[in-house]
Amino acid sequence: MAYGRIPREFIDELLIRADVVDVINARVPLKKKGREYTACCPFHNEKTPSFTVSPNKQFYHCFGCGVHGSAISFLMEYEHLEFVEAIESLAESLGITVPREAGGKAPNKEQQQRSKDLFTLLQDASEFYQLQLKGSDKAVNYLKGRDLSGEVSKRFGIGYSPAGWDNLYKPFLKNYPEQQLVDSGLVIKNDDDPNNIKTYDRYRDRIMFPIRNRKGQTIGFGGRVLGDDLPKYINSPETSVFHKGSELYGFYEARMHTKNLDRIVVVEGYMDVIALAQFGVSYAVATLGTATTQDHIKQLFRAVPEVIFCFDGDRAGREAAWRALENALPVMQDGKEIKFLFLPDGEDPDTQVRKVGQEAFEASFDEALSLTGYFSENLHDRFNITSDEGKSRFIQEASKLLHKMPDTLIKDQLVSRLAKQTNIDERTLLKRISQPESNYQNNQQSSYPSEPYFDEHFEPSRSVSRLSNREVRQTPIRYAISLLLSKPDLVQFVENIEQIVLSKLPGSDLLTTLIETLQESPNINAAALLERWRNTEFEAPLILLMKWQPESDDEEVLRCEFEDCLKHIHKRANEIKVESLLHKERTGGLNDQEKQELLFLLQQK
Ligand code: CTP
Ligand code: MN
Repeated sequence: MAYGRIPREFIDELLIRADVVDVINARVPLKKKGREYTACCPFHNEKTPSFTVSPNKQFYHCFGCGVHGSAISFLMEYEHLEFVEAIESLAESLGITVPREAGGKAPNKEQQQRSKDLFTLLQDASEFYQLQLKGSDKAVNYLKGRDLSGEVSKRFGIGYSPAGWDNLYKPFLKNYPEQQLVDSGLVIKNDDDPNNIKTYDRYRDRIMFPIRNRKGQTIGFGGRVLGDDLPKYINSPETSVFHKGSELYGFYEARMHTKNLDRIVVVEGYMDVIALAQFGVSYAVATLGTATTQDHIKQLFRAVPEVIFCFDGDRAGREAAWRALENALPVMQDGKEIKFLFLPDGEDPDTQVRKVGQEAFEASFDEALSLTGYFSENLHDRFNITSDEGKSRFIQEASKLLHKMPDTLIKDQLVSRLAKQTNIDERTLLKRISQPESNYQNNQQSSYPSEPYFDEHFEPSRSVSRLSNREVRQTPIRYAISLLLSKPDLVQFVENIEQIVLSKLPGSDLLTTLIETLQESPNINAAALLERWRNTEFEAPLILLMKWQPESDDEEVLRCEFEDCLKHIHKRANEIKVESLLHKERTGGLNDQEKQELLFLLQQK
């Protein structure tokens, strides 16, 4: 996005002022049930309601398919909006304008004007190339030779850049400043040699594929040679309006063609997208000469529940598929599906669909590998699990990947499949996944007991009802976090934040960050906290704990439970301090002050 950032405080404010219940209720009628609201989930098919909205946390969650989030996430999912668009829509419904950060990268008028002009320029160029195509027999014949219909060429705005150095540059210079032509990526200015500055068209004698963003604005081009020269394709460079890592070729056209898409095929090339569209598979997109990024996958999941990666069966295709899988893991959600289809040797989707036709091509999606299938097949091919060493490397690699996945049913399935495959029991595997680093660093000098020790000593005075259908171990840290999420003003009872840091318990970094944030912004709610940590390491644990619900409403009870947690954490911190003092005593000796401290701590114990 080319414009300046939306201030974080504004997003907090927006989520405090908007009511997630109103936002959802306007689209999906809700029923009140106890402290919460429910409905049949709008994101998966169900007959009994498992979609819950908490007015207190301003958070929704579905036990059925696992969707969850704030009013902003709901708009993103339900209306297929991007983050900024969802904020704008929410703000508009409340009658407030979205401010943009001033200074630095500010979205000042001038910059906004500049990107507006860039869109106009690129659109002009696209029309120019289309016009040139009409006038060039050579280019038209090339497209005919590749059996592209006039209809589909038009739908995708295919054009032609004539041979020569300034066919575009010269006439465009009359309407646009030179710098802007360079900024658009259409013109190259070579000023290495001050005596011989050359400015010329980037695209010469190429078939031109305009790349459009989700609004349909042209943001760049791909250009293909007509013969066998190299490079075969030239793509626009990254510009202020074109970011390869977040754009998908053909996405706009697919959405325009079908109002409610239910699946999308990801292919490797421009010609694949177009040929598929011509043969009736009008829901293909391609990345732009880059790997499939997390951002790509998130966008796809917002549009459809099913994404099929359809790549060549060769090594490059397999590598691209694996990269896509790696990037999909952190953004997987229940209710979303990814599949992998590998084409026969020497075929790409363009040649394959021409060979077998739409029906057979689409039928092959049914035989595509599932995420779990491809995951285990790939690891199986890479490691020989009949040897101990191979098996351990297999587990190591699998844990590293699974560690990146949020808690989902798909993850559970994957774990159970891998457990069967390697003949290792699921609990051992799960333990590995929760601490994949320990596989690499066996020189951990820490002597602290790990989490399970702690569990035995901790029983929250009242049990919590879990909103999650997955078993997550309760620990004082986790419980303290979930209490703060339910009732942020408990933060006033935190006296000694250093103790939490010192305890080094898993999750203490999230708890301390949470406490600091609440101390800084006392009015913030859980949904706003979640938005602050969108796309950070804290997002997944926070969502998990957001689903926990204390059983009591009673302020006094909640306070006691919270203080209980803090007591446990302090105790742990003291134990650590004692251990380190004792260690020091054995190795180097203690000074007077340290001796006193140790004595004091031991007495407390
Ligand atoms: N690509 C690229 N630059 C290249 C080669 C390829 O950006 N020099 C990208 C393009 O997006 C291209 C895709 O990779 O569409 C796939 O490349 P390839 O399989 O070589 O081309 P095809 O799409 O099959 O194109 P064609 O059928 O026209 O040969
Ligand atoms: Mn091809």
